[in-house]
Amino acid sequence: MSNATKPSNSDRYAFVPGSAPYPTIVSAEGCWLIADDGRRILDGAAGAIVGNIGWGRTEVAQAAAAIMPIGYVIPLWPTPSRLALQDELIQHWLPEGFNHVFFTSGGSESTDSAIRLARAYQIGKGRIDRWKVIGRHPSYHGMTTGTMAVASHLARQKGYEPLLLPFPKVPWDDPEQVLKVIEQEDPATIAGFIAEPITGAAGACLTASDEYWRVVTAACHEHDILLIADEVMTGYGRTGLNFGHQHFPFQPDVIVGGKGLGGGYVPLGAVAARDEVAQALVGSGFMYFTFTGNDAACAAGTKVLEIMRREKLVARAASQGAVLGKRLHAEFDEHPAVVEVRGRGMFYGLELKCSRDAVVMAALQRDLWVYPAGSGPVSDAVMVAPPFVVSDAEIDQLIATLRAAIDAVVTR
Ligand SMILES: Cc1ncc(COP(=O)(O)O)c(C=O)c1O
Repeated sequence: MSNATKPSNSDRYAFVPGSAPYPTIVSAEGCWLIADDGRRILDGAAGAIVGNIGWGRTEVAQAAAAIMPIGYVIPLWPTPSRLALQDELIQHWLPEGFNHVFFTSGGSESTDSAIRLARAYQIGKGRIDRWKVIGRHPSYHGMTTGTMAVASHLARQKGYEPLLLPFPKVPWDDPEQVLKVIEQEDPATIAGFIAEPITGAAGACLTASDEYWRVVTAACHEHDILLIADEVMTGYGRTGLNFGHQHFPFQPDVIVGGKGLGGGYVPLGAVAARDEVAQALVGSGFMYFTFTGNDAACAAGTKVLEIMRREKLVARAASQGAVLGKRLHAEFDEHPAVVEVRGRGMFYGLELKCSRDAVVMAALQRDLWVYPAGSGPVSDAVMVAPPFVVSDAEIDQLIATLRAAIDAVVTR
């Protein structure tokens, strides 16, 4: 039998031999993933915290399909779908003063571009000694070598250390340490500071104080260090506001997005910059990726954002997210295997005293998907972050199944 006629074999799908087997998903609707054997899995993490609008939205597919026959247009040239997404973002999503957007194909490309942008900005200002981008411990910004270097996700960095630039790190919660590190490193060598407004996969919703963000913002502005908000997980409504930084006195110069922007339907990311930041890039030849502004992705992304506005899904992430949070706190605050429940909007983390991988697999055996998280000080955690359309009944089922999964792991 030739390879082309062999039946499909999900066992050999994993790139890394010996990886855990997962169900083959053939369709999806709302908060449900449907496998080839008819099994229905409750998607308690919107995939990888991506599917803000939920699954099965044919109008997103139609918007992308209508554009696909154009094929490819060089990223520097405008097209109607690129312009429509740019207008949608500037008019309805980004804060005042952010009128410049650079498209990418996902989160890592976006955060990596933001690191490059910090450097290009400083060069544009004539400060060629500024190259360092400060990151936080713990944090996650992607899997390019640049984004791995600026982050502090020890498990994902392990073994790759020789490839990673020695970017300085500050604690996620200590404003005095932030000031100390900036002084020690010398502000005249620092190009940028990158932060997740609420820590995602590395910390499972660690949330710093208002004072922390006030100090970070003031120090960055004082020294003209480009302040980058990595909103790849927290952006586009996930936390109950358009962007996560808007909960805090955190005033970024650059806002990086991915995941929820394309809603999981297309690979899409965006780096938005304040006007004065973009102005400093004039003459820099800031380079695009081949698929910067991919037309079908832009058309799909515009439709995703239109749906969010039409169905008022950001407000729903806040209101239904409050229901989810209340139920999680009620069920798990006193649970002996749970260190803490934290988060806001439709974005929650459970820090655990037991193996997160065991909990994730025990949940999946019970037809629930939750997202594994944790690194450094947060060794084990899972994230609960369903699509914003999740119903009360689905929240009840999610909580009951997660409870059964954790109980099964701790009583094993
Ligand atoms: C905060 C944050 N930044 C960047 C990334 C990288 O995005 P991607 O996996 O789309 O490259 C992620 C992915 O989880 C993320 O959570």
